[in-house]
Amino acid sequence: MQIQQNISLKPYNTFGIEVKAKQFISVTSIEDLKAIYVSNEFPKKFILGGGSNMLLTNDIDALVLHMNLKGKQIVSKTENDVLVECQAGENWHQFVLWCLDHDFGGLENLSLIPGNVGSSPIQNIGAYGVELKDSFHSCKALDLETLELKTFNNDDCEFAYRNSIFKQQAKGKYIIVSVTFRLSTKHHKLHTDYGAINSALKTMQITNPTIQDISKAVISIREDKLPNPKDIGNSGSFFKNPIISKQDFLELQKNFPEVPHYVVSDTQIKVPAGWLIEHAGFKGKTFGNHGVHKKQALVLVNYGGASGKDILRLSELIQKTVLRIFNIRINAEVNIF
Ligand code: EPU
Repeated sequence: MQIQQNISLKPYNTFGIEVKAKQFISVTSIEDLKAIYVSNEFPKKFILGGGSNMLLTNDIDALVLHMNLKGKQIVSKTENDVLVECQAGENWHQFVLWCLDHDFGGLENLSLIPGNVGSSPIQNIGAYGVELKDSFHSCKALDLETLELKTFNNDDCEFAYRNSIFKQQAKGKYIIVSVTFRLSTKHHKLHTDYGAINSALKTMQITNPTIQDISKAVISIREDKLPNPKDIGNSGSFFKNPIISKQDFLELQKNFPEVPHYVVSDTQIKVPAGWLIEHAGFKGKTFGNHGVHKKQALVLVNYGGASGKDILRLSELIQKTVLRIFNIRINAEVNIF
């Protein structure tokens, strides 16, 4: 185990924020992970996955554990599906492509989402009509108290929109070391209802799409709408789409009849935060070295050299303005440290 001192975390967070880690280690085995937790040498620890869903506003005065467990394997096969276990440190999109190469279906709509496999259940990643929970079979996580591995099945994870037990009661108590997915090997269930997918497939002149075609369509939509963190620092959607009561929604609709919305239940409506932010006047606005993306108002961007505090201040200004205009509180989707 090689522990590095005073390391820049800029390459390890997709916002490209320059902060330092007091100590840093790349974790490549569960044994190493256990050894770190057994030792008294490191009182403060900070878990880092793909760094794609976080905003770092301060130096990290702790040992940063960069989760680098690698590997994927087919666990079992039945007539129509397969269980695949993937280690936490694998890149999400590379894993999706690997599944598509094997013609395993279920994750194609989640193509090109930044981050690592180990973080994917924490916020139940989702896009274009599909959520991780739809293919999630189970995950193994290290219990940080007993240092034993515990298996969480789909129900145990209490998945909801951008939420799971790992953001609630289990927060800070476990480290996910691998995730197992149930994927189809034939009769793939295609999810093409999402408007943008349909039009992308039309543009590609595809009428009978395969799972690989859907992945290509999703990739083209994302490349068109969302900034690539390699070019412009960002963390995808900065805010969650707020879910409000039907009563509040009817009030909102009176003043803004054109507001897009999705019915969540008889009493709850989800409103796109991107629409609220755009109509609060922030879409495409820049504030020196940072701002709001011009094609997707949900995404805050670091054009280079912005600090985490700059981005945080902008997010607070957006929250306040949206609250004032629409009387809706929008909350960050990214984790702020
Ligand atoms: N909209 C605007 N202005 C904008 C952005 C969106 O008016 O600047 C409107 C759109 O016109 C549309 C509605 O908002 O009517 C929804 O927009 P879109 O379909 O682009 O999806 P979203 O709600 O903005 C969510 C996820 C994305 C995911 C897309 C596609 C959240 C917080 N975000 O965005 O996830 O890719 O749906 O399924 O749920 C991410 O989490 O990082 C992420 C990118």
